[in-house]
Amino acid sequence: MEKEPKKQLSLKKPSPPQGLFIVFEGIDGCGKSTQVELLAKRLQRRGKKVVTLSEPTAGCWGQKIRALALTKGSLSPAKELELFIKDRKEDIKNNIKPALQAGQIVILDRYFYSTLAYQGARGLDMDEIRAKHDKFVIRPDIVFILDVPVSQALKRIASRPVIYGLFEDRDYLKKVRKNFLKLKDPECYLLDGRRPPEAIGRQVWQILIRRFSWLKVR
Ligand code: ADP
Ligand code: TYD
Repeated sequence: MEKEPKKQLSLKKPSPPQGLFIVFEGIDGCGKSTQVELLAKRLQRRGKKVVTLSEPTAGCWGQKIRALALTKGSLSPAKELELFIKDRKEDIKNNIKPALQAGQIVILDRYFYSTLAYQGARGLDMDEIRAKHDKFVIRPDIVFILDVPVSQALKRIASRPVIYGLFEDRDYLKKVRKNFLKLKDPECYLLDGRRPPEAIGRQVWQILIRRFSWLKVR
């Protein structure tokens, strides 16, 4: 008797949830935190697992940066750079990498592009800052740089208590803005941050679903 061919069982595993690494950048008051929140809510409504993070972190190096930043000029540019890098290494190891490995969507408020722009504006060489980061960073999938004139950004944060005296000086921020505008990395999208938050949020979403169409699936 002829043997019946064995039935092929479909053992295809469901694909693991997909991680995605999104960064928002720009000068103080450009609207990053607002956009992080809008996007996180939009993704969560679609059932996505989202982790929102920010740098400097609340970890020990981030706390040190905050404490030292209160005293204008208390840190040399090289020391600043060293502290932001230490903070970032910890953030990658403890927060960013584990979340991405678990298939979550990481939305990060500031990353090494801030170091290029801010510590670059303190006189450090942007290529050297980049080279130091190339050794350890996880490259984000996409970066949104919100561009706003310094005067407008400072007006927005005028009522905020000054925690970063060192970083929120008008002339300094003008240099920082210029440095952000110099960034030409393919993952970076420059957006006009002067528009209402909802309009920016819609543009962010359109760009994201064009690049990562699976985000549309609920
Ligand atoms: P950042 O995180 O870049 O410092 P925030 O998101 O905290 O900026 O925004 C700074 C202030 O400006 C907040 O009071 C916020 O409500 C307001 N804001 C944010 N985005 C916009 C926008 N697109 N237009 C006008 N005001 C904004
Ligand atoms: P942040 O808390 O994001 O301030 P804001 O909400 O006003 O944008 O960042 C704190 C300050 O630290 C901010 O002035 C930018 C500065 N900074 C650097 O100079 N280098 C860096 O690498 C990072 C991450 C932040």
